[in-house]
Amino acid sequence: MSNVIIVGTQWGDEGKGKIVDLITERFDVVARYQGGHNAGHTVCISDRQFILHLIPSGILHADKCCVIGNGVVIDPAALDEELQMLSEAGIFTEGRLFISNRAHLILPYHTAVEEAEERLRGAKAIGTTSRGIGPCYEDKMARRGLRVGDLQHPDRFRQKLSDRVEQKNRLLEQVYQAPRLDVQAIFERTMQRAPQLLSFATDTAEYLSGAINDGKSVLFEGAQGTQLDVDHGTYPFVTSSNATAGGACTGTGVGPSRINGVIGIAKAYTTRVGAGPFPTELRGEIEVRIREKGTEYGASTGRPRRCGWFDAVVVRYAGLINDLSTLVITKLDVLDGLDEIRICVAYKYRGEVLRFFPTDMEILSQVDPVYESHPGWQTDTSQIHDYDELPQAARSYLNRLSELVGADISIISLGPNRDETIILEESSRLKALLKE
Ligand code: IMP
Repeated sequence: MSNVIIVGTQWGDEGKGKIVDLITERFDVVARYQGGHNAGHTVCISDRQFILHLIPSGILHADKCCVIGNGVVIDPAALDEELQMLSEAGIFTEGRLFISNRAHLILPYHTAVEEAEERLRGAKAIGTTSRGIGPCYEDKMARRGLRVGDLQHPDRFRQKLSDRVEQKNRLLEQVYQAPRLDVQAIFERTMQRAPQLLSFATDTAEYLSGAINDGKSVLFEGAQGTQLDVDHGTYPFVTSSNATAGGACTGTGVGPSRINGVIGIAKAYTTRVGAGPFPTELRGEIEVRIREKGTEYGASTGRPRRCGWFDAVVVRYAGLINDLSTLVITKLDVLDGLDEIRICVAYKYRGEVLRFFPTDMEILSQVDPVYESHPGWQTDTSQIHDYDELPQAARSYLNRLSELVGADISIISLGPNRDETIILEESSRLKALLKE
């Protein structure tokens, strides 16, 4: 049985939720390893749509177990809301959901500090999801975070919380001129939710290791995307965790040699939410058309996503960082009906052609994309189930993406539902990863 990582190769929102849901049946356990409720995974099953932010979408399959690893940051209120949504939909989580007792807690002061910081940044704001993600990871790295396991000892938790809130209040009042927070109110609200959270808490590294030893297979579900990775993305316009494949090891405690491959997900075009350089960004009619047809609005915040042509420099770079075993292209149907489709194959900076992704964001914000032009197709591809039935222009487009990225394409998604998918049976890489 294989253990496989799913990663986003662009700026998130590549449609990972649907692909995870699609291949979950081949795995026993689905594990999240980073991020928090800034992520939004939309999964459509028959006529029901689920948006999951924190809990892996594997939870929608009654016979699968799900893990929220130590690398994830958890807002108890957000978790509570999601558990309630699942319970109302008749999906039970008891005995199927395991939460790391090492995962850090997002508490109300994280959100308050983030809002104050973004306000102060003004025009230089990162455009975060305002969920307290960054400040929570800051506290983790500064070694003053509070973890799920701390909830087991209310007195100690109260003491630590009091120290943290005092520190944040100094920051809020003296630096940001923002209102103070009340320790007791935060303590009471958090402790109300603690019993439920603790009922799922365990040492998930040990759980995963045992599961793998027993021959079970694990799907590691990445959130966000390579360009939002705190080390490898468009820093500082990134999230605060390692969204790339390496994060799966540190974020779950599973060693690299136990993982067999990485499936990269890329949209047939590019989107990003929040601020930061985006070389192939479109403006005007085509952008609006892609946004409306692709429903490109944030699943967590509802913000309109910025849209642009496929950037092969970005996805090739993701291939390098994540060592992709195979590539999945999503939302190809969104490009139906366009006369011309462009692919960015390189960048031009001050007359020089750059084929690699620059590390300097000043350079990235000034590059001109070097485009290849491809003919569009006028067919509705959403009902096609066989690769050979795709219009010739669509097949040529996909072949070119594969060639430019340097990875074979194994799945093509043509709509949000499970059956709107073409799985390329001849993809030996995918077969090897999904073998029983
Ligand atoms: P944060 O993760 O809330 O700190 O936001 C940092 C950056 O990551 C912002 O540009 C967000 O819009 C972006 N971001 C965070 N989560 C997602 C996601 O799931 N999809 C797309 N962008 C995201």
